[in-house]
Amino acid sequence: MASRRVALAALVLVVLCIGAHAKPKGDKSKDKKDPKWPDAPSGAIVAATELSAAPNKTTSGKGYAYLVLPKGGPYQSYIMLGGEMKSVSMAHVHWMNATAKNPIRLGLFPSVTAAGTPVLLNPPLSYKGSATFQRAWNETDIGYWGTDINTFLTLLKSGALYVNVHTAANPGGEIQGTLKCKSPCMWGM
Ligand SMILES: *[C@@H]1O[C@H](CO)[C@@H](O)[C@H](O)[C@H]1NC(C)=O
Ligand SMILES: *[C@@H]1O[C@H](CO)[C@@H](O)[C@H](O)[C@H]1NC(C)=O
Ligand SMILES: *[C@@H]1O[C@H](CO)[C@@H](O)[C@H](O)[C@H]1NC(C)=O
Repeated sequence: MASRRVALAALVLVVLCIGAHAKPKGDKSKDKKDPKWPDAPSGAIVAATELSAAPNKTTSGKGYAYLVLPKGGPYQSYIMLGGEMKSVSMAHVHWMNATAKNPIRLGLFPSVTAAGTPVLLNPPLSYKGSATFQRAWNETDIGYWGTDINTFLTLLKSGALYVNVHTAANPGGEIQGTLKCKSPCMWGM
């Protein structure tokens, strides 16, 4: 039953994301301020970002990423790649801290099952149009990167986490976006 509910939630997310993508253009400046928030159960923590070229990179890729954390889990991540990119290899949430070398704080795709070891998509993904990745995750997935959910949420709330999509041409990241957490960025009743 639980997994069925997760699948349903995922489906709702996918439908919403398609809706978000299809919305008419014209209020770009507003979009810059607040990303389009995904639908989420009441009381859930929600974060979102728009993905665009990493500093000094040129790309035809773009996209969105969402995190939805209902209290008690299971948590969900959703990433939609748009435009066009070649040999996409992996995507993570990173901590924006150059001194610490911007370490990974959560794997988005492919799923990682060993502590602290990034895994490459095999084969890598070349797409035109769109490609989506969605997964359920929990404290264990955060623990793989040497931290815990409370630390993760503190970083999320302070705007110190970003989504990074890696490719063969740009192994350090081709498109990125800083995650913004929807106020109040804490679990409600
Ligand atoms: C981008 O390129 C400029 C000019 O070469 C350089 O000063 C800057 O440090 C680069 N930024 C990054 C993030 O690599
Ligand atoms: C960034 O990481 C370094 C090294 O781990 C740490 O000393 C520093 O406190 C971190 N910066 C912030 C803002 O937490
Ligand atoms: C986290 O999810 C994995 C499956 O992805 C599951 O095996 C594990 O039991 C979960 N851990 C917790 C603490 O819920």
